[in-house]
Amino acid sequence: MIFAKLKIASLVSAALKEIGMADVPTDKDIVAMLEYPPSADKGDLAFPCFRLSKALRKAPPMIAADIKERLVSDSLIDKVEQAGGYLNFYFNKTAFASEALAEMLTKKDKFGGSDEGKGKTVVLDYSSPNICKPFHIGHLGTTVIGHSIKKLHEFSGYKCVGINYLGDWGTQFGKLMVAYRKWGKKEEVEKGGIDVLVDLYVRINHEIDGDPDNNIPGNKELADEARAEFRKLELGDPDNIELWKWFKDISMKEYEKTYAQLDMTFDSYLGESFYTDKMPEQVEKLRKLGLLKIDDGASIVDLSEYKMPPCLILKRDGTTLYPTRDIAAAVYRHKTYNFDKCVYVTADQQSLHFKQWFKVVEMMGYDWYDKLVHVPYGTISVAGVKLSTRHGNVLLLRDVFGQAVDKVRSVIEEKNPELENKEAVAEAVGIGAIIYYYLLGGINKSSSFVMDDALSFDGNTGPYAQYTYARTCSILTKAAELGKTADIDAKDAVITSDDEFALVKQLALFPEKVKNALDSYEPSVITHYIFDTATLFNRFYHNCPVLSADDDKVLKTRLALTKSTGYVLKSAFSLICMKAPEKI
Ligand code: ARG
Repeated sequence: MIFAKLKIASLVSAALKEIGMADVPTDKDIVAMLEYPPSADKGDLAFPCFRLSKALRKAPPMIAADIKERLVSDSLIDKVEQAGGYLNFYFNKTAFASEALAEMLTKKDKFGGSDEGKGKTVVLDYSSPNICKPFHIGHLGTTVIGHSIKKLHEFSGYKCVGINYLGDWGTQFGKLMVAYRKWGKKEEVEKGGIDVLVDLYVRINHEIDGDPDNNIPGNKELADEARAEFRKLELGDPDNIELWKWFKDISMKEYEKTYAQLDMTFDSYLGESFYTDKMPEQVEKLRKLGLLKIDDGASIVDLSEYKMPPCLILKRDGTTLYPTRDIAAAVYRHKTYNFDKCVYVTADQQSLHFKQWFKVVEMMGYDWYDKLVHVPYGTISVAGVKLSTRHGNVLLLRDVFGQAVDKVRSVIEEKNPELENKEAVAEAVGIGAIIYYYLLGGINKSSSFVMDDALSFDGNTGPYAQYTYARTCSILTKAAELGKTADIDAKDAVITSDDEFALVKQLALFPEKVKNALDSYEPSVITHYIFDTATLFNRFYHNCPVLSADDDKVLKTRLALTKSTGYVLKSAFSLICMKAPEKI
């Protein structure tokens, strides 16, 4: 819709000059003021005059009347009506559609993107599972929100660096080493992979914590032993290093399967362990700056002035902590990528952690502290069950995906057994359904997950959206078979119905939606846009025959609408990490 907004801005600006306004707002400012009327009968775009009343010393309705009187006519605008302090612009439907379709058919899958990020680099830290702990449904958030935010930036011209900051360091390795040496068997781990490691991890946590509800005491010695093993690992003990590497390889094999299903790759897998030798320099800097305080043997940065608990830098035994590693990693990333923005996507439980160490980075005098962004998301629960990583009652992402794909496979077997590539389609639709459903709620909200709702082919779901895309493909294939060329000259567009017009307006909104989702770090903007687009396309399809249209211009316009819908849906799917099978 941007071309139409620019056109109206130039008309309004000219009228304001005619009126004799001293400081006419720039076209860009006028574009930003334009609003979409709440319903089609009130026009296609509205210009509110309220903000000009101070400068022009007039009531908004009078300003609106003054502007209206001086507007020159334009082929894009059929009529302008004044409603109180608003000016409502009504497009010439055919002129609007011709220009909009021409743009979409030229830009194809690039439509909606921009070059606003040209020359800028964004580092994105997301997914980042903790090795040896299960990849569970709670990680869906960081993984798909993070990837979606990356896609939005790429589409908008930014250079992006996706980092999987693996949680491959920390006391959990001490625990796992103790557990493995006590109860584990090499062959079992080799055979059972990460599941066996997770079992060992769960078991040792149970032993350490005990069960206070049933009067089973915890085992403190085991906890001490685990700490000692981690300490040895930090000091480079060769046996422990070897074991740690092995645990890491086994975990990675599992994660890679999940990333492959999601069509996701990372530019870097440098995890927490990579920063072990980069922390002392930062700790030293903190010390030199006088920012470190000793508190009960631990080294901390006092943040009381900022109304936050202290940031822990070194434990009593001298081992480093999560914030210390994040600080060292941020310094390294800034040096390596010279980022314009470094975005972290995690569950909102970590919000304080990020606020704290961002503040410490600022106190350390790093002038890029304000380029660090934390994007938190709400808790995800399944059928009301809250999930905990440490104690085994977890729903693995792998299993959620697996169940979704199984269900879709059986629907395909029943409804369309002849379909080619059944397995690939079942994966695309099953996994797409989960992602879509998850990305429908705003990221700050907690969400609960009901599998059958996600998999429905009706309503606001991934399968419905994918099915709509497949419908656009099938229409275009049939058109080609009938010799009805898809080479549409969009300048010949004619709009004969409200459904066509509503659809083309919706398609033209895509670039603005991308910008909105990008600026607010909110993929759900795209998900909702997909649903509205699919709904308007299906209404159009239902009411406006495409291939049997007898008038050549009508046929071409409808094919152009179908083709453009295909481009827009496919691009939008990719922004929320959903695949676009051409046949379902
Ligand atoms: N590994 C952490 C976890 O799963 C998330 C890491 C987030 N990124 C960061 N730079 N702290 O809880």
